[in-house]
Amino acid sequence: MITPLVDPFHRPISYLRVSVTDRCDFRCVYCMSENMQFLPKKELLTLEELDRMCSTFVNLGVEKLRITGGEPLVRRNIMSFFHNMTRHLESGALKELTLTTNGSQLAKFADDLYSAGVRRVNVSLDTLDDKKFADITRWGKLDQVLKGIDAAQKAGLRIKINTVALKGFNEEELFTLTEWCASRDMDLTWIEVMPMGDIGNEDRLGQYWKLDDLRARLGENYTLTDLAERTGGPARYVRLEETGQKIGFITPLTHNFCESCNRVRLTCTGELFMCLGQEDNADLRAALRNHPNDNTPLEEAIRAAIKLKPKGHDFDYSRQTVDGRVSRHMSHTGG
Ligand code: GTP
Ligand code: 5AD
Ligand code: SF4
Repeated sequence: MITPLVDPFHRPISYLRVSVTDRCDFRCVYCMSENMQFLPKKELLTLEELDRMCSTFVNLGVEKLRITGGEPLVRRNIMSFFHNMTRHLESGALKELTLTTNGSQLAKFADDLYSAGVRRVNVSLDTLDDKKFADITRWGKLDQVLKGIDAAQKAGLRIKINTVALKGFNEEELFTLTEWCASRDMDLTWIEVMPMGDIGNEDRLGQYWKLDDLRARLGENYTLTDLAERTGGPARYVRLEETGQKIGFITPLTHNFCESCNRVRLTCTGELFMCLGQEDNADLRAALRNHPNDNTPLEEAIRAAIKLKPKGHDFDYSRQTVDGRVSRHMSHTGG
């Protein structure tokens, strides 16, 4: 019998998010600065090493694996990694294999993802306006992402749209985005903007749109019913009775959800971040590389890291200042 991973606050850890690259083909303004320094390729874990890392976590009880980036689908040969993870779905050890993507490469990979056992994909999309999309992503093309979403739905993948709630940016699209998602049978999750990474010209407070306010605005046009349903992620969901669709709220600022945290994050160099909002991390790469034929040191390193998982983040805008900021970019751990 393997003892499951449990942190010092009695939270079982069953969800691993894996950032397979820090690179991205977009430069979203709230996520990256224009001139990012990326890791030299030689620093990255190989796909075989990523497989060994993830398989070890699965052996220790991880049931949900979310592949992130940067943009995960720009990592060379990443589909071979997905196909290798299929064996854990087939064995029943893994309940869900999924990814968070900007959608730019979905047209190319949707069928392959489905055949690897992926059934749900989260696509980040903050606006349906071409010009605004180009502004916020700096390098992105809305049309390419929409084609990616089409391909994904055609392949049988269920889509959840992730939208960062940004004051003065997508406020007026609240209903357009809601209706668009309803018309395509997609769920929609709103996210409060978090103070992560130096992004140049930062105005987190100016951008911050409280989801309590967003929810109240939504309630003016729809009847909202709270749902008890959970995906294992941080979102809390409501159903819009008029359309039947699900709307999620990820509220690190207004309603902290850390007490039910079940996840840790592995980066593409083998660091394990125990909390998105804290700097604590553990190097798993040494334990992996120094013992190519023995997993025990890696398992011990993982257990030791989980014992250091902090209680939660300290993000706080309530004093009209940005508190609890974290220096690394969101793209380092993929959110
Ligand atoms: P589902 O499986 O669909 O519930 O996905 P998820 O919400 O776990 O994952 P997703 O990649 O869609 O995450 C959406 C947003 O939630 C990202 O911006 C993440 O940064 C944020 N998020 C996920 N986990 C945490 C967390 O532990 N703390 C904080 N503060 N934000 C998180
Ligand atoms: N605050 C909140 N969400 C962010 N994302 C990127 N940067 C931030 C931030 N500072 C979102 C992306 C994507 C997810 C992985 O994280 O839009 O949906
Ligand atoms: Fe790329 Fe995602 Fe960051 Fe946008 S939020 S720059 S799509 S990693």
